[in-house]
Amino acid sequence: MTSLSEFVPRVQWKTCCLYSPRLPCLLLLFGLALIGGLVMHMNGPMAMHLNRIANTTHRLISSRLHEHAMVSQPPCNATCRWLREQQRRKKRVSTVCNSYRNSSDARANDLSYTLTPQLLRTMNHFLVSDSHRLIYCYIPKVGCTNWKRVLLVLGGAIGGTNQSTQSETHVIAQKHIRTLAGYSLQAAKERLDNYTTFMFARHPFERILSGYRDKFLMDYPASTSFRRKYGPLISTYDDPRHRHPSRRSDGTLNVSFAQFARYLGDPANSFRGDDPTEHWNQMYRICHPCAVSYDIVGNFSTLHEDADFLLNLKGLDTKVSYPKSTNPTNSSDEQYLARYFANLLPGDIKALLDRYLIDFELFGYTLPSVVPAKNSPQ
Ligand SMILES: *[C@@H]1O[C@H](CO)[C@@H](O)[C@H](O)[C@H]1NC(C)=O
Ligand SMILES: *[C@@H]1O[C@H](CO)[C@@H](O)[C@H](O)[C@H]1NC(C)=O
Ligand SMILES: *[C@@H]1O[C@H](CO)[C@@H](O)[C@H](O)[C@H]1NC(C)=O
Ligand SMILES: *[C@@H]1O[C@H](CO)[C@@H](O)[C@H](O)[C@H]1NC(C)=O
Ligand SMILES: *[C@@H]1O[C@H](CO)[C@@H](O)[C@H](O)[C@H]1NC(C)=O
Ligand SMILES: *[C@@H]1O[C@H](CO)[C@@H](O)[C@H](O)[C@H]1NC(C)=O
Ligand SMILES: *[C@@H]1O[C@H](CO)[C@@H](O)[C@H](O)[C@H]1NC(C)=O
Ligand SMILES: *[C@@H]1O[C@H](CO)[C@@H](O)[C@H](O)[C@H]1NC(C)=O
Repeated sequence: MTSLSEFVPRVQWKTCCLYSPRLPCLLLLFGLALIGGLVMHMNGPMAMHLNRIANTTHRLISSRLHEHAMVSQPPCNATCRWLREQQRRKKRVSTVCNSYRNSSDARANDLSYTLTPQLLRTMNHFLVSDSHRLIYCYIPKVGCTNWKRVLLVLGGAIGGTNQSTQSETHVIAQKHIRTLAGYSLQAAKERLDNYTTFMFARHPFERILSGYRDKFLMDYPASTSFRRKYGPLISTYDDPRHRHPSRRSDGTLNVSFAQFARYLGDPANSFRGDDPTEHWNQMYRICHPCAVSYDIVGNFSTLHEDADFLLNLKGLDTKVSYPKSTNPTNSSDEQYLARYFANLLPGDIKALLDRYLIDFELFGYTLPSVVPAKNSPQ
């Protein structure tokens, strides 16, 4: 039986390989290969793959990004370090994608590797800017409203990123920004090949908590209608600390985080990209990083830095900047995570890991130390 700590390793994916001597790097990758083998049940091919990466990392300089900028000899300034970090993230994505390619792991069944007409029709989160040759795949709860504002400013639909409210932004974006799903297969392929493609990832547990706080603790029209629609189902999940659910002032059921987490962990529930449950759909099922080779993989924990570099790289920083403040639900704070996740049982956390494991792996997230999974009875 695997324990939870093997499920998601508490190690960091090191960046050393791009500039350190080869031997320590190989040793580190060997260690990672062992861990990777445990995690992904793929010892041989995984280890070989990682060793191959170690051998070729010094010759990595092939990405399209490098047409714009340099990555070569130290000294490496901030831009250069950011580009190296991008290489590291993209390498991780492709390594994880390859590790699942021929896997019998049922979790990998819905990982897509090729752009088919069927897949394309679902790609309504891919926002296309033909004028600026950008494709942004948005994931709810990962700074996407502000990215929509940025694209709307670039496209001339609004005058500044401070000129539309949250809900207005989504409406205007729907009207003014085309999605990849609306293009023919050929046109979509050409754009994916030639435009700068980017997405932003976020720690799956932060994203869940942010979604809970947004939809169940905040009061605005969309959250009320969401609770009306899904509250009755979610409140059927047992929470011993919440046996007598109250109602909120808008008359909807007061759902606890534990009930919500059990609803998410229940394999019987599936989440779709065209209804409000997209907020907790796995990131890989929205942005398909094994089928789309992203030029830039952003991270919510470095959102502003990544956004600034990206706009600068594209020469767009004189036209627009990523807005500095959002309305934070504080879901990234460790203490908030700790407070909410303390109400979950190890079995709940295992079920959540099961659902989001591929997201954890693809984007290099580890179990937060505040999440009490270590003493799993499993
Ligand atoms: C690294 O690659 C070179 C040529 O591509 C090959 O000759 C060499 O054996 C490889 N080394 C390892 C450790 O795989
Ligand atoms: C970083 O270094 C590169 C050359 O390696 C240079 O072209 C670029 O202007 C530098 N950027 C900054 C902000 O100094
Ligand atoms: C995966 O399977 C395909 C055929 O299903 C095969 O052509 C390919 O070589 C396999 N790849 C690996 C890495 O085993
Ligand atoms: C938006 O920002 C600009 C400058 O950045 C400012 O002049 C303007 O007053 C702001 N508008 C609103 C509605 O806050
Ligand atoms: C994309 O690039 C290919 C070849 O580089 C070219 O044939 C094609 O017309 C380009 N498509 C667009 C939309 O620019
Ligand atoms: C919702 O339930 C929680 C307990 O799970 C309680 O602390 C909170 O006050 C309740 N909220 C409302 C609006 O009834
Ligand atoms: C988030 O944290 C800040 C300060 O840490 C606090 O002022 C604010 O009220 C918090 N927001 C929520 C929604 O809890
Ligand atoms: C994002 O940042 C976290 C640390 O905050 C790190 O653990 C994770 O690997 C990063 N992921 C990506 C894709 O950069």
